[in-house]
Amino acid sequence: MDKLLVSGGQTLQGEIRVSGSKNAALPILAATLLADAPIQIKNVPHLRDITTMIGLLGHTGAKVLVDERLNVEVDSRSINNYAAPYDLVKTMRASVLVLGPLLAHFGEAEVSLPGGCAIGSRPVNLHIQGLQAMGADIHVENGYIRAKAKRLQGTTLYLDIITVTGTENLMMAATLAQGQTIIENAAREPEVVDLANCLITMGAKIQGAGTDTIVIDGVDSLHGGEHTVLPDRIETGTYLVAAAMTGGAVKLKNADPESLEAVLAKLRETGAHITTGEDWVALDMQGRRPHAVDIHTAPYPAFPTDMQAQFCAMNAIAQGTATVTETIFENRFMHIQELQRMGAQIKLEANTAICTGVEQLYAAPVMATDLRASASLILAALVAEGDTLVDRIYHLDRGYECIEEKLNQLGATVRRVP
Ligand code: EPU
Repeated sequence: MDKLLVSGGQTLQGEIRVSGSKNAALPILAATLLADAPIQIKNVPHLRDITTMIGLLGHTGAKVLVDERLNVEVDSRSINNYAAPYDLVKTMRASVLVLGPLLAHFGEAEVSLPGGCAIGSRPVNLHIQGLQAMGADIHVENGYIRAKAKRLQGTTLYLDIITVTGTENLMMAATLAQGQTIIENAAREPEVVDLANCLITMGAKIQGAGTDTIVIDGVDSLHGGEHTVLPDRIETGTYLVAAAMTGGAVKLKNADPESLEAVLAKLRETGAHITTGEDWVALDMQGRRPHAVDIHTAPYPAFPTDMQAQFCAMNAIAQGTATVTETIFENRFMHIQELQRMGAQIKLEANTAICTGVEQLYAAPVMATDLRASASLILAALVAEGDTLVDRIYHLDRGYECIEEKLNQLGATVRRVP
């Protein structure tokens, strides 16, 4: 199994291009199952989760063409199988995103129930309840969600908890429902807005995406079209933190700084000098050590849970003490123990990590159990003394396109080793 060997001590400098957003591309690829004609998706990142989703589309019988620039064309007219099997869903929870589109378009779907996850229990009860409220007949049996509906009926859905993929699944299903669906307490994440924009291109009638009330007027069918996936805000944030931790200066092109305001505000608080343009963001730390910053994760537009681990790594070497509180997932602190093995002084109290910055971290063999935790270990390794071997990097390959190439382009010394 591949590992990354990171030699610490380099200051990151230079320019790189941000990839398309994983968490926007996944629901958008699932949305192609709703169309009655081929649809082209551009700026799709080259990631393991994307390959899994493409495999899932292929499994339904959809024709998927991927060109050398990873533009993906999906033709759903040949679909003849409405199932997402356990083997695919167990490798990627986001597979559940095909439930709404398959049910709405073909009247039936059989999707393996995602199991537990390293960062929390992550149930999908709100996806199921929402579809039931729209008239679907759903049974969970033998580990599968089996759903049927002649035609979904529009209704008002109130989500008890703000859920990103739940909002996406229900919004997709509602596009082909009879009548109007209103999703209250909807997720406002930029990825939800990007999906809505793609659906609108396909002929859907959606208003309010990006607010907590989304109104969808069902249509009889959706057509093809072309959509470009928005830049990945979490990848952008991760490289900005890497630069800040190393005292460096980077410019990230093809980015969307507007979707990153909470993260940029926190980076400014560390002492970083940030400048932005319409599609770029630059950070200059001017060789200084960052100040520790308090973090409290919450749904968008607040600080994203997907950047929590990276800020823990930064606080580990920052000046001062700060608290990091995780409110979205109950077990998203798996990186803390590994950071402690590199010399970090972090104390965990319930859902809060109290980090007191140290002047120097030290290399150690480390591994992580989820994507963002793995990213935080890479960041820590960039500033640690010595060579850090980061194991289980298949997690990183799920969400960071060409991570070692991009880091090396910025002056880091990172090597993939068997
Ligand atoms: N929840 C329920 N019931 C549901 C759905 C969610 O109780 O039916 C709870 C979850 O257990 C959690 C909270 O609601 O405590 C929020 O979870 P949400 O549903 O929003 O998470 P998700 O849609 O499964 C997406 C991203 C995650 C990101 C979260 C939060 C995708 C494919 N995944 O997950 O991304 O952390 O939103 O922003 O969009 C990552 O990229 O590393 C990642 C984990």
